[in-house]
Amino acid sequence: MSETLVSVEDMKVHFPIKRGVFLDRTVGYVYAVDGVDLEIKRGETYGLVGESGCGKSTLGRAMLRLNEPTNGRMVFDGTDVSSLKGEELRRMRRRMQMVFQDPLSSLDPRQSVESILVEGLRAHDLDKSKEQTGKRLRELLSAVGLPSTALRKYPHEFSGGQRQRIGIARALALEPDLIVADEPVSALDVSVQAQVVNLLQELQDQFGLTFLVIAHDLAVVKHISDRVGVMYLGGLVEEATADDLYAEPLHPYTRALLSAIPVPDPQVEDRRERILLAGDLPSPANPPSGCRFHTRCPWRQASKCDTDRPVLREIKPGHKVACHWAEDIEAGVIKPHEVAPILIEETDTMSPDVPLVGPASVTEALNP
Ligand SMILES: Nc1ncnc2c1ncn2[C@@H]1O[C@H](COP(=O)(O)OP(=O)(O)OP(=O)(O)O)[C@@H](O)[C@H]1O
Ligand code: SF4
Ligand SMILES: [Mg+2]
Repeated sequence: MSETLVSVEDMKVHFPIKRGVFLDRTVGYVYAVDGVDLEIKRGETYGLVGESGCGKSTLGRAMLRLNEPTNGRMVFDGTDVSSLKGEELRRMRRRMQMVFQDPLSSLDPRQSVESILVEGLRAHDLDKSKEQTGKRLRELLSAVGLPSTALRKYPHEFSGGQRQRIGIARALALEPDLIVADEPVSALDVSVQAQVVNLLQELQDQFGLTFLVIAHDLAVVKHISDRVGVMYLGGLVEEATADDLYAEPLHPYTRALLSAIPVPDPQVEDRRERILLAGDLPSPANPPSGCRFHTRCPWRQASKCDTDRPVLREIKPGHKVACHWAEDIEAGVIKPHEVAPILIEETDTMSPDVPLVGPASVTEALNP
C-alpha cells in the first residue's frame, strides 16, 4: 500500500465571469486555484492556511469534485478521480467526505438528526436493516460525544459545538478515508473550538482517518496538523511540517502571517519584529504578474519578482518554498524594505455579476 493517499497535480479552477443580459459573454476568469501540487500521506493531517479569498475552499471542493477543475488531476489511493463518472465517482465519493464551516446552514433544519445521518447511509445502500442502522447511528453519536437521545432532535435544538459534532458524525457515517474539514471551528465560540479540534484528533487515531483541514487561523492549523501548506492567490507558496514552518518560515508571506500572531511571553513580544503587509489581497480575477506576492513583498527584487512566477521547490528536506530569493532572504543577504500600497484599479472583470453558486444541499452534493 502506497504511503500517499492523495496526490493533486497542477490543479486549476477558473470561474468564468459572465456579462450581458443573458450572461452570455465571458469577460474574464476568477483564477481561484491556479496550479497547485500537493500530496497527503495516509493517516496524516494536512493543514491549509491563507487569507480569505485565496482559494482554500475552492481547492478542497475541487479535490472532492464538488467544483469541476479546469485543469489538473487528483489521484486518490491510486485512482485518478478526475476521470471518474457516474456510479464510479459516486462510489469513490463515499471515501471522501467534507465537514463544513457553518453547521447550521449545512444541516437541513427540517430534518431530525436521525434522518440527516440515515440519508447518507441510504444514498450508498448502507441502510440495510432497522436494527443495524439503529446500532450504527448510536455508535456514530457516541464517537462524536453526543447521547443517543440526540437522534430525535432537530439541528436548532443544539449548541454550535454540538451541531458541528453532528456534521462530523454525518461525515463519519460512510466510513471515509479522507475528510476535508473546511474551517471546522471558525464559526464556534473560542471555548468550544478546542473541544472540536480535540475530537477530530481522537477520531483520527480511532479510525485511522486522513484529514485536510482548511483554516485561516494559524493557531488551529498548528495545533492539529502534521504538515502545513500556505496559500496565496490561488497557489501554494510554502509547505513544511508544522514545527518547521512555525519555527522557521522561509517565504516572505508566511513570515508576515506568523509575525502578526502575538507571543504570550511579554519580553519576547516587545522585541518581536512585526511585518505589516501593505495593501489588500489583489483580486484573483486580475492576479499580479510574476510572483503573485510581489505587490506586497518587503523583499521584492528588481529582477525576476515581477516577471517570473516562482515554482514551489524544496530548499531544505521536506520544506518547500515558492520564492526566487528564499536562500538569500534566509541568509540575510537581502534585507526587507518599505512597501507602498498599490491602488488596484477596478476593471471590467473584477467582480462577478453571477451569483456564487454552491450545491443545493450538502448531502446532494456529496452523494449525488
Ligand atoms: N462559484 C464561484 N463562482 C465564481 N467565483 C467564485 C466561486 N467560488 C469562489 N469564487 C471566488 O474564488 C476565490 C476563492 O474563493 P474561496 O472561497 O476558495 O476562498 P477561501 O480561501 O476559501 O476564502 P475564505 O477564507 O473566505 O473562505 C474568491 O475570489 C471567490 O470570490
Ligand atoms: S519571489 Fe520576490 S516578490 Fe515573491 S516572495 Fe520572493 S522576494 Fe518576494
Ligand atoms: Mg473558504
